[in-house]
Amino acid sequence: MKNILLLILVLSLFSCSNKEKEYSTIIPQVQEIQYAASYFDLSNFQIHAKENTFLSADLLNLELAKLDYKIDTVVYFEDPIKANSINLVIDTTLNSNSEYYELIIKPEFILIKGASREGLLHGIYSLIQLIPRSSGIDDSKLACLSIQDYPKFKWRGLLLDCCRHFMEVDFIKRYIDLLAYHKMNVLHWHLTEDQGWRIEIKQYPKLTEVGAWRKEKDGSTYGGFYTQEQIKEIIAYATKRGITVIPEIELPGHSIAALAAYPEYSCTGEPLEVENDWGVFKDIYCAGNDSTFAFLENILDEVIELFPSEYIHIGGDEAPKFRWEHCAKCQARIISEKLDDTDELQSYFIKRIENYLNAKGKKLIGWDEILEGGLADGATVQSWRGFDGAAEAARTGHDAIVSPTSHAYFDYGLESIDLEKVYAFNPIPEGITDEEAKHIIGGECNMWTERAPQNKIDSKVFPRILAMSEVLWNYPADRNYDAFYKRVQNHYMRLDQLGVDYGLETVPVHFNAIYKNGLFNVDLQAGGKDLTLYYQINETITCKYDSTFTVTENSLVKAWATKSGITYGAVKEVQLYKHKGLEATISNLNEYYEGYAASGDKAVIDGLRGSNNFRDGNWQGYSGRDFTATLSFNETQKVDSVLSSFFQYNLSWIFMPTKITVYTSTDGANYYNRAEIKPEVSARSEGEFFQEFIMTFPEVEAKYIKIKAENYGICPEWHPAAGSNTWLFIDEVRVY
Ligand code: ACM
Ligand code: ZN
Repeated sequence: MKNILLLILVLSLFSCSNKEKEYSTIIPQVQEIQYAASYFDLSNFQIHAKENTFLSADLLNLELAKLDYKIDTVVYFEDPIKANSINLVIDTTLNSNSEYYELIIKPEFILIKGASREGLLHGIYSLIQLIPRSSGIDDSKLACLSIQDYPKFKWRGLLLDCCRHFMEVDFIKRYIDLLAYHKMNVLHWHLTEDQGWRIEIKQYPKLTEVGAWRKEKDGSTYGGFYTQEQIKEIIAYATKRGITVIPEIELPGHSIAALAAYPEYSCTGEPLEVENDWGVFKDIYCAGNDSTFAFLENILDEVIELFPSEYIHIGGDEAPKFRWEHCAKCQARIISEKLDDTDELQSYFIKRIENYLNAKGKKLIGWDEILEGGLADGATVQSWRGFDGAAEAARTGHDAIVSPTSHAYFDYGLESIDLEKVYAFNPIPEGITDEEAKHIIGGECNMWTERAPQNKIDSKVFPRILAMSEVLWNYPADRNYDAFYKRVQNHYMRLDQLGVDYGLETVPVHFNAIYKNGLFNVDLQAGGKDLTLYYQINETITCKYDSTFTVTENSLVKAWATKSGITYGAVKEVQLYKHKGLEATISNLNEYYEGYAASGDKAVIDGLRGSNNFRDGNWQGYSGRDFTATLSFNETQKVDSVLSSFFQYNLSWIFMPTKITVYTSTDGANYYNRAEIKPEVSARSEGEFFQEFIMTFPEVEAKYIKIKAENYGICPEWHPAAGSNTWLFIDEVRVY
């Protein structure tokens, strides 16, 4: 009661309006804020802490020092509030949400009250974000206000994949600071992978002697690992800042680095090397071998000893069942455990590990594949392949963390996930009841690092994590992206001070060219707000873009954006090709994956060539299917060649076609085979590349052209995904 009266008294001193709330600069946006028309003087103040807030006071001091305040007096006190001071209080009766805090700034004092130490820390970071820092503002005056704030979701995480690329200890600490600053509270630390084992395990020294190092394709050695001492140091650093560190120890898949060190725990027992490419690999832990479980349990013992977190993440994703299907021990296990298939064997594997963790007082988290074959009783599911895994978990009474590839994969480019898209993220899957929704404990952004060494991480994570932090903290019901965007613009100054090398909010410029009556009509569209667009044709004069322009011949068009007069992101370069196919209509296509072909059926006859990024919108991707198309012309054409490009990236299951055939017809009924090519590209050729094939023939009259490119079929025996359908990717079918 006393607290309520105090709150009413305090609230009555402040005015409140939604307009003001909209312009509060803090990210994530606070739940409630009221401003008052006076100031606290920052030129002379102390921090005033009790014994139980001393650690937080120390942290506040560290944060203030970054803003050039030297406040070295910290006084223990018994009295509630001291004048000219920042007073830190933990009051567990304040609110049932333990992360709740209140921040009161008055001319006489500042008071931060948390319902727990975590709550108090959130108040401290709100205060730090309020301290004026822009040029031309009197930074000794802190505007008076009152904030009452708490998170909507209790799990607000960032995954750092330190395996594909290693991150230094100081870099991880810096990320812990950045997470705390934005009220994120979980560091999901991905520590074991095919490409590197990064955690020292005393009982198995080869895990780091062998498993932490890979031989790159250029012959160099890449790697690193964290000693147990370094891990303790990182955990202590995180704990001080209210961040829980969750280790991920991947099983049964993504385990080549461990198996390179200890091949006896794979199905074949054959020597392996730490992987130096990206993908999903078929060698996984043998589920039929009891010594595999003993090995994993011994590892988990050391992990449990190191990490105080309630949860241990065991991965569970992307475990191909090929080896298990061909392994006598795994098959024997299926029989002895009366399992139906290898999916159930995976479920057996996870349940056995879960029982082990539970017996040690820990809870298990796994990626949504752990639902397949039956979910372990107390497991928490991390939904990444969309929202279905989270919905299924919630419906069956399991907690879920939501980090779908659609909104939360910060390794993806801005074409698919830009700032606005992240801001639209709703962690609650559609179609579940309010009661089931209580099992959605929060979300994460996932920073996988196949294509992001340490020096690229900032530009991938920021500014997108600002949107994620706001969604998970404030969960704004009526999202106002414009207001958020404005706050982000103000926030950049703070990111600059923190030394964050943030990236773009969005793709700077979208390019669209439509061919009609012998001309390309080119439209540019700014990807985001406050951008001015420019273009150049064939490297001649630079034009400011204001409306559609035309291009008559084969041309290289460059387009770019500026923001506040500074070039914003990379210049987009598009080569436009004029050819007869542009005049055709296209039909008889097999079903392709729509997510890749931005311009739909016409993507292959739009004059735009795909780049060596098969997600650039120009490629059509066919899974397990051939490419077939009929081009129909209004008038008969003289034709003597057809060219077409295909993509290969065998680790993404994309292969060159086995055969390309061109037929022509004058009546649409009788077709003649004019050219045929069997590409001589080895399916084993590594890396991502495209190749154009030229099919020439003596000139013929044609009103119809049929093209067929035959899909490679299924992934061969040597391939990590042996037996799975392969993809065929095709772009521009040029006709001359
Ligand atoms: C995942 O992205 N394989 C969890
Ligand atoms: Zn086996």
